[in-house]
Amino acid sequence: MHQPVITGTGVFTPEQTITNAELVEAFNAYAEKFNAAHASEIAAGEVDAKDASSVEFIFKASGIEQRYVLDKKGILNPDIMHPVLRERSDDEPGVMAEMALDACTKALKEAGVDASEVDLVICAASNHERAYPAIAVEIQQLLGAGGFAFDMNVACSSATFGIQAASDMLRAGSARKALVVNPEICSGHLEWRDRDCHFIFGDVCTATLIERDDEAKSPLFKIRSTRCATEFSNNIRNNNGFLRRARTEGQDLDDQRDMQFMQNGRKVFKEVVPMVSAHILSHMNDEGIEPDNLKRMWLHQANKSMNDFVGRKVLGRTPEPEEQPNILQDYANTSSAGSIIAFSKHSDGLSKGDICVICSFGAGYSVGSVIVEKL
Ligand SMILES: CC(C)(COP(=O)(O)OP(=O)(O)OC[C@H]1O[C@@H](n2cnc3c(N)ncnc32)[C@H](O)[C@@H]1OP(=O)(O)O)[C@@H](O)C(=O)NCCC(=O)NCCS
Repeated sequence: MHQPVITGTGVFTPEQTITNAELVEAFNAYAEKFNAAHASEIAAGEVDAKDASSVEFIFKASGIEQRYVLDKKGILNPDIMHPVLRERSDDEPGVMAEMALDACTKALKEAGVDASEVDLVICAASNHERAYPAIAVEIQQLLGAGGFAFDMNVACSSATFGIQAASDMLRAGSARKALVVNPEICSGHLEWRDRDCHFIFGDVCTATLIERDDEAKSPLFKIRSTRCATEFSNNIRNNNGFLRRARTEGQDLDDQRDMQFMQNGRKVFKEVVPMVSAHILSHMNDEGIEPDNLKRMWLHQANKSMNDFVGRKVLGRTPEPEEQPNILQDYANTSSAGSIIAFSKHSDGLSKGDICVICSFGAGYSVGSVIVEKL
């Protein structure tokens, strides 16, 4: 068996940002227009009026201050309220592949690895731009990588599940150098017209390069152990899929709310926090790691209070900010990429031998933990 190590990470961050104030202004303009257009139905009790969103609520409930997006103009236009991206021909790189190329190139540079040496690309994300050919195969071709590539989707846990899949293949010898890449265009599946969730997501792409330790020029972290778990829940759901055309009710897909992200946020909060804390603690226990010996937690970035709860439960005390770095104030929830952004941007200050954990959680429900040791 070979030992997998992380040798590089990369983050592609879109150029455009939307602050909470900009977001709320656009949403409230949309809500006012909607209420004016449906005034008589609202007065007759046939349609619910849309309540205004608030900057204070968003920050207090989530900890989010802004998000990066691929197209802010469409999202902030009260008559559009979604990103508008130029349609590309089949001969051009897709949007996800283009983001992935940037993040992968950064990860390869950090590791001092040429793309031609990579023999496995896993594109692990919450949504894929098309059904096939796999986005991962397109990324493989754009990079000039060899071997094989495939897409996988475990929603917010895609990155850690991808790291487990790649690590296991490296251990077994079926791959030598693997890129796990997470292009997340969350703005495309968020319902920006829904006050309960319009502030949640942002766009980004992360990449993690994993190699065998005996072939790595600049290993950063040893992957000591990975653990994935799932438990079915409808509390985070998106019904979009290849059967959309087969649905019998109205063809106005724009108005089919369940074709975008839906959640019961309160329930998710209450059910996922204990699941994640217990998962990390039992994974650490089985690896003989005491909470006192855990130096850092790079958690999924959905909600600041959620992370504070998990951090307290795992360490048995309030973590210091550097022990549990958050990036969601700047990036919002970026689905599977969140814990990897935190990992990539906040890995300094650790000493050789320090034990840390990357942990993601979300729809499925799913939870994935990767216990790493600083080299
Ligand atoms: C989504 C989330 C931030 C909402 O926070 P919350 O405290 O649960 O808020 P609730 O939905 O219970 O709403 C509380 C109140 O704020 C109101 N509210 C909701 N959105 C609002 C907004 N944008 N602006 C102002 N008020 C708002 C609600 O109507 C409700 O009002 P009421 O008390 O009068 O009924 C939180 O539940 C969460 O982060 N959950 C976990 C989500 C998660 O991790 N999902 C994974 C996604 S991949």
